Amino acid sequence: MHINELDTPALVIDLDVMERNLSRMADYAREHGLQLRPHTKTHKTPALGARQLAHGAVGLTVAKVSEAEVMLASGVQDLLIAYPIFGAEKMRRLVEVAKKARVTVSVDSLEAARPIAEAAAAAGVTVGVLAEVDAGLHRVGVQPEGFVDLLRGLVGLPGIELRGMAFYPGHIKNQDLDALAALSTLISGLIGEAKAAGFALPIVSGGSTPTEWHSHEVAGMTEIRPGTYIFNDRNTIFSGACTAEDCAATIIATVVSTSVPGQFVIDGGSKTFSSDRTAVDGFGGILDAPDALFEKMNEEHGYVKHAGHTRKVGDRVRIVPNHICVAVNLHERIYGVRGDQVVETWTVDGRGKLQ
Ligand SMILES: Cc1ncc(COP(=O)(O)O)c(C=O)c1O
Repeated sequence: MHINELDTPALVIDLDVMERNLSRMADYAREHGLQLRPHTKTHKTPALGARQLAHGAVGLTVAKVSEAEVMLASGVQDLLIAYPIFGAEKMRRLVEVAKKARVTVSVDSLEAARPIAEAAAAAGVTVGVLAEVDAGLHRVGVQPEGFVDLLRGLVGLPGIELRGMAFYPGHIKNQDLDALAALSTLISGLIGEAKAAGFALPIVSGGSTPTEWHSHEVAGMTEIRPGTYIFNDRNTIFSGACTAEDCAATIIATVVSTSVPGQFVIDGGSKTFSSDRTAVDGFGGILDAPDALFEKMNEEHGYVKHAGHTRKVGDRVRIVPNHICVAVNLHERIYGVRGDQVVETWTVDGRGKLQ
């Protein structure tokens, strides 16, 4: 099918760019002796998780138990749930997943770890845990001074196995070498404290897309969990970790109105792109018009300001989303293209998995 035959709005993936992104990250990880465990929150699609595994990933990362269930279809044998999960129904589902694959969960408190331990012990399975530390994002993670106490508490629980530590350097959004050096000092210091207290940490899991090419500079880290790198997006360009040529995902939209001078309106708004505007201007980058500003959105309308534009109703535009992970969650299907041909279609089985 020709790309122009796709009904819009449509999320398309340039397969050549995606494959280059996958290979580059796999090569980087191999070269630096780092294990790669991509976060699947970006594509939410088992077929793409399978490609990451084929590129040498040791396993996959998810945020939710329901995402773990979906990702089993990728053939994954080793899953990390890098999110504090809590609640009886989640525990029930967690142990079912643990019967099918090796599962590890990041925890930052004994309150979160105890129900996992009890459910695992009752079901006769072992669930791994990583002790998560707050490395500066101040989201989740035990404060560094409480890290060793958390390790002590975790090893006392039945049904779970302490497999190491985790952190997420989401506060480092650009190539801030000082922040990376501080991160390295913090993590290597904590590994040292754990060792002195008698704890081995076989897995030290961290990493993100903005910091992707500096991961090897974080002393002691053994595993990286980049997510966005498979597609990249405007935020990643802004972070300095990729260029526009590395963005595999674009949303094709149709111009539906040019009635207001200096503006065209497209058939996609917040239901299509997400409202994420983190660090960049506008809600997406118009591929062939970098000076146009995707200024405003309603649910189904995108307002693009572009003085002197010559677009007509029915014209198509391609837009690089600001935050691809949230945009993917809004789409039922994504299309893989080579040049102007649509060669693959995937349903986004992991979209809307909130629990
Ligand atoms: C815990 C955790 N690990 C890894 C990632 C992947 O980050 P990125 O998409 O920047 O690669 C995220 C992203 O939100 C995350 O929350």
